[in-house]
Amino acid sequence: MPIEYLEEAKTWILTTSKTAYVMGVDETGCLQHLYWGARLPRNADYPRPSLTWQAAFESPRGLAYEEYPAWEGIKYREPAVKASFADGVREVILTYDSHHLLPASPAASIPELVISLKDPDYALQVDLHYRVYEACDLIERFAEIRNNGAKPVTLEQALSAVWSLPRGSGYRLSYLAGKWAGETQLRRTEITEGKFALESRRGLTSHQMNPWFAIDPKERAGEEHGEVWFGALAWSGSWKIVVEQTSLGHLVVSGGINDFDFAWLLEANETFRTPAFVAGYTEGGFGAASRNLHQFQLRHVLPKEHRHKPRKVLYNSWEATYFGVTEEGQAQLAEKAAAIGVELFVVDDGWFGARDNDTAGLGDWYVNREKFPNGLKPLIGKVHALGMEFGIWVEPEMVNPDSDLYRKHPDWVYHFPNRPRTESRNQLILNLSRQDVRDYIFTVLDDLLSSYEISFVKWDANRHFSQPGWPEAPQGRSREIWVRHVQGVYYILDRLRERHPNVVFESCSGGGGRVDLGILQHTDQVWTSDNTDAFDRLRIQEGFSHAYCPKVMMAWVTDSPNFLNQRQLPLAFRFHSAMMGSLGIGGNLNEWSAEDMKLARQKIAEYKEIRQIVQEGRLYRLLSPSEGGLSAFQYVADDKRKAVLFVFLHSQQFGERVPRIRLRGLLPEAVYEVTGTGTDQAPVVLSGKALASIGIEVELTGDFASRLIRVDLKTS
Ligand code: GLA
Repeated sequence: MPIEYLEEAKTWILTTSKTAYVMGVDETGCLQHLYWGARLPRNADYPRPSLTWQAAFESPRGLAYEEYPAWEGIKYREPAVKASFADGVREVILTYDSHHLLPASPAASIPELVISLKDPDYALQVDLHYRVYEACDLIERFAEIRNNGAKPVTLEQALSAVWSLPRGSGYRLSYLAGKWAGETQLRRTEITEGKFALESRRGLTSHQMNPWFAIDPKERAGEEHGEVWFGALAWSGSWKIVVEQTSLGHLVVSGGINDFDFAWLLEANETFRTPAFVAGYTEGGFGAASRNLHQFQLRHVLPKEHRHKPRKVLYNSWEATYFGVTEEGQAQLAEKAAAIGVELFVVDDGWFGARDNDTAGLGDWYVNREKFPNGLKPLIGKVHALGMEFGIWVEPEMVNPDSDLYRKHPDWVYHFPNRPRTESRNQLILNLSRQDVRDYIFTVLDDLLSSYEISFVKWDANRHFSQPGWPEAPQGRSREIWVRHVQGVYYILDRLRERHPNVVFESCSGGGGRVDLGILQHTDQVWTSDNTDAFDRLRIQEGFSHAYCPKVMMAWVTDSPNFLNQRQLPLAFRFHSAMMGSLGIGGNLNEWSAEDMKLARQKIAEYKEIRQIVQEGRLYRLLSPSEGGLSAFQYVADDKRKAVLFVFLHSQQFGERVPRIRLRGLLPEAVYEVTGTGTDQAPVVLSGKALASIGIEVELTGDFASRLIRVDLKTS
């Protein structure tokens, strides 16, 4: 029973395969959080609600772990909800009213509990939703805030969830910070009294912070052991996750849409639904935490049409040609891409409007006839004849002032009257809060996808918000743009997906600026970073893997030296780094030698053999690239019969040999054959237990050496 209600104790127990999450209603009607941790043998083991605690300058409610605290009374922690009523009252009181289970039909797979809270004096209702993902050991929460009264209510803060951890001190926070070309860097910091805000105020998810957290207590979790509480937010706009420790030892993580500059008008009978916040607890360390999130994405988050299909090996022309795309040039690259085994050929920026550089053309989504005199059809025909699918780049939310669209509709961008419209990368943001703008973008893209046989769209967004004004907004709604814009992106993507179910969508924002569980409900994969240096990528990808599954993590093999840092890396190293996610090729194949092309062909063929394990398997981060000169990542197939291991030596010193690498996640009693540990090395045959206890010797010398090692169950 994943959801149980103990009537006499007014307590709910949500259980997953290994964890339990418990809440109850106290004598004042307050919904209290009671327990989140390992699943216990008896229901009677779980705590009961009580309000026994008191301290000067505090209140019992303020000291309780409230499930969804509203701003009222003697309460000073981060509220989940803050609102003002039409009569000027700015306090919301939430007390338990009722609860019910969803879905009504027992056949539906994900059980959901809805607990309704109501204000005793105003017609405001909050429905707290809890979905229980038993196999993934995760709970997903969101709230619906409803105005049942006749007069409007203004929401000033409306978070998705507040997660409570056992009272104590000495916790440590892990989070993902970064920048353009340096996204998802894993950071760790002690938690002490105060608030630590992870957030984006940029209108998009951002490169600077990613909406994921993990917390372990002072005993310290490792990759494969120890307690970790962790979670990720499903939102692609301005967001915040506040980690707050009080002086009395409470530790809460509150998260959702960022309240900065946010206000939402709830007219009579309107409901505001927050994005979802999913979280879990594990005793298996950071490795288990991320594997649970990966499985959740693979089973429940990614759009259904392509969820279970392998991601194709793609070619993208960006680094090869930049804006200089032409029919001839692309056709030449397509021939080379097909020859090495690429399955999907993607034309990046530069194919449309007057787009010769980043100063013009955005918004004009019609084919540039100078570059493609006969439209895209000849190139697409050629790509198909070569046995590949065709994909294209767009940046639909953006416009260059130097474009036909902007000249026609200067009022379609966010702006404040009487203020300059600040450009970034020479572009402005279209106001997707407006339905007419949404409809226009949908129609243009729908036309494009209907006129051409396009199987893949890379959806980019190359700037963050400024002057977020909506001058024509209905009275009281101008600050809703932070939410409406994101809803607009989701809405257009969903309509396009419905009309063109075969198209695979990739989310990109100047690299990995829009990677989150929200966009992953509407796109099938993401562009991880504009940094394609295979060595830097090891750390970016390691951080990424804490929150997101390898299947959605696009990684290209590009040229050496790399455009960003001029680093020179062997082609095999570049391949191995990119093969740890969904593989793409992004170099100028015209410059690759015959030897490079031969190796590329071999590596792509090998990737096709192992991609099921990489894209759907369980990831074990054996050795971190942040901690030394050697890193190793292992992927184990669902049935544990196969595994692949990627090992990277960054820079050998003092002639030291690589230490033995111990494998994880295999069947202890089964016997495996390990191939590829060295040049001309005979396969190693060992039991799963021996591979975990003794490990394997890997032959690696010099700088930037790497190996792809395969582990297969020995059948005879
Ligand atoms: C962004 C993307 C790149 C490329 C360019 C095109 O920076 O991240 O991959 O598509 O835009 O302008």
